[in-house]
Amino acid sequence: MAEAGTGSPDIVQTPRGPAAPCVLVIFGGSGDLAQRKLIPALYNLAEEGLLPEQFAIVGVGSTDLGDEGYRERIGDTVPRHLTKACDPERWRWFSERLHYVQADFGDGEAYEALARRLEEVAETFHTGPSFLFYLATPPTFFQTIIEHLGAAGLTRQDRGWRRVIIEKPFGRDLDSARELNAAIGEILDEDQIYRIDHYLGKETVQNILVFRFANGIFEPIWNRFYVDHVQITVAETVGVETRGRYYDRAGALRDMVPNHLFQLLSLIAMEPPNSFDANAVRDEKAKILQGIQPIGQEQVLHRVIRGQYGAGEIEGLGEVPGYRGESEVDPASATETHVAMKLLVDNWRWADVPFYLRTGKRMPRRVTEIAIQFKRAPYVLFRDTPVHHLPPNQLLIRIAPEEGISLRFGAKVPGPGLRMGNVEMDFAYADHFGSSPATGYETLLYDAMNGDATLFQRADSVELGWSVIQPILDVWGALPPRAFPNYAAGTWGPWEADELLGRDGRAWRKC
Ligand code: BG6
Repeated sequence: MAEAGTGSPDIVQTPRGPAAPCVLVIFGGSGDLAQRKLIPALYNLAEEGLLPEQFAIVGVGSTDLGDEGYRERIGDTVPRHLTKACDPERWRWFSERLHYVQADFGDGEAYEALARRLEEVAETFHTGPSFLFYLATPPTFFQTIIEHLGAAGLTRQDRGWRRVIIEKPFGRDLDSARELNAAIGEILDEDQIYRIDHYLGKETVQNILVFRFANGIFEPIWNRFYVDHVQITVAETVGVETRGRYYDRAGALRDMVPNHLFQLLSLIAMEPPNSFDANAVRDEKAKILQGIQPIGQEQVLHRVIRGQYGAGEIEGLGEVPGYRGESEVDPASATETHVAMKLLVDNWRWADVPFYLRTGKRMPRRVTEIAIQFKRAPYVLFRDTPVHHLPPNQLLIRIAPEEGISLRFGAKVPGPGLRMGNVEMDFAYADHFGSSPATGYETLLYDAMNGDATLFQRADSVELGWSVIQPILDVWGALPPRAFPNYAAGTWGPWEADELLGRDGRAWRKC
């Protein structure tokens, strides 16, 4: 097996240097996301030599902290979220680049002050007038912040570049996503907008593109002639943790499907792009979302299953309360914590191949995976042998917690007579490339600094995602669930989710 590392003959790489000089401005700079993910990710980039010398960070928030107060706070809280040991020298380099501006996000004057501060910081660190704004705030502030940035002249690109990263959720339905796109489109060009979906920051998700398009062997069988169906599972053992208030208004469908699950679906199903240019890749992904067969309102209850967990027991966590007993959740809540659905993609490659998607909280295991199930071998040779009972070939792309790819196929059990068993060819990232724990935000931040939007969502894809699920939101809104809670914590969801596949003579993979 090849050694991981730059010198390995088995690793082909394009040169990577430090990102483009800029000031990164984090709205919500002392908040949870900044402390748990963004600052640790930036520190990891610094460790790998991927941040330029001409770089600085400005946190913006409502708490009254000066630069020193901010550095202290980050110094107190962030080290426990770092994914690598902290090198004191590196931390000093990093910490002196941290600044803080106190601002009420709705106060226009605060942005004038911010603009002045950014000029000073840019001058001190020789970054030039290029600013990357990261909106790590609740979604209610997205539009307000962008409007104020525009009014303060901070989005004009006459000197340096100006880009804005927007966290999820981007809208809560099709109309609100369209409105938000239209409002921010008044101020920013589409190529200044970087809509985050943190699934695209995951190595294994990015690897789907490489796996499919850098290898010739799978392409000929990647279609309706060989693939029986595809299953995408994102199961979590956690409940809603401290996010009850948000989650109770969102639910599993909004929270996971039009964003994370549709990213996985479009990467698996897309046609090869002409190049790895951001728009070439995003055009092909958008075509898949466009091709999803609309779910008519009359089909919703049949093709989309919703569930809510009741109390139960999860291995490793013990007994856990039902969703309605979680903090900040309505005790009579009709919000779904599990969703399973069957989708069809209407194009030549995938016509009639079902894509089954499921996601849920409080499931027995944390697992994110995509299973491509191939059609059975013709029976001619193996008639009257147990081969009928062998499960068909399956390619499994494991995204979490273990990362890797495995291929299941039948093999002869040694000895007289024809006996067969299933075996797996297994690739685990950690075995081959070693493991370098990361937050998942490193590549996204690095790419945004370099102006590469390939791993970010374009306006049309966000709206396409919402338009697929809008009929579901409408029907569910009009017809409240009859039997919630309908699955116990620690199980794989309501029985109707099994029936969804059972009706087609199929079953969910046992994860
Ligand atoms: C977030 C959702 O976007 O993704 C959460 O809001 C969910 O509810 C999380 O838990 C899952 O992300 P990951 O990376 O842990 O699979």
